[in-house]
Amino acid sequence: MDDDEKLSRSELGTKAYWESHYERERANLADSGDTGVDWFAENIGDTLVAWLCEELALENVKDMIDLGCGNGAFLFEVERRSPWERLVGVDYCDDAIALAKAVAEENGSQRVTFRVANLEDDVGSFSIVHDKGTFDAYMLGTGTIGDYRAAVLRALRPGGYLVITSCNSTVSELVDYFRGSDLAVLAHIPYPTIAFGGHTGATVATVAFQHNQPTAH
Ligand SMILES: C[S@@+](CC[C@H](N)C(=O)[O-])C[C@H]1O[C@@H](n2cnc3c(N)ncnc32)[C@H](O)[C@@H]1O
Repeated sequence: MDDDEKLSRSELGTKAYWESHYERERANLADSGDTGVDWFAENIGDTLVAWLCEELALENVKDMIDLGCGNGAFLFEVERRSPWERLVGVDYCDDAIALAKAVAEENGSQRVTFRVANLEDDVGSFSIVHDKGTFDAYMLGTGTIGDYRAAVLRALRPGGYLVITSCNSTVSELVDYFRGSDLAVLAHIPYPTIAFGGHTGATVATVAFQHNQPTAH
């Protein structure tokens, strides 16, 4: 895929869509204590968090950033299942971050912090860059694969890991998007597949990549 190539546009690629989504979720939290959606949870259960925190056995991990963290649900699970010292969630929606901070306070989270940022901003550097569903939204808006790759590489320490989960791309498409960059494929999750209309495939794909300069990170 060319650097400036993009997928088709959709409402889910607009900030306005996510702002109204999180405004509703904040109102739901206030009304009923509902903390909101953990995207793809119905498809992947706790497979992803167990794979990331336990099975992959990633080395020298100090910290992780979750790009487009939404309500922070995934980071709270990572906090529960990993010893990693610093877990940071960023999202470009103020209401998503306000919601995540409110849930963190309720949970008594000690190692998770949240702030408003666009994934294209300079967000610091981390041992793990995690993305679940944000690449999908980004590519449905004005984002390009080249800009996304540049953002991830800026946020990764040398030797660090990108773990990305998509419902719009297959494993081989995700691998293609990063081919020729400084990221090498480490592993992917073999989620159960479904057959439909003569085609077989998984509804969600997760791939882990490692930055190919394995110095201290
Ligand atoms: C499908 S939701 C996934 C939320 C969360 N990662 C999860 O798995 O529950 C996509 C998220 O990406 C955020 N987002 C989209 N584009 C972004 C960007 N350029 N920078 C930061 N966040 C973004 C949206 O606000 C939304 O929270």
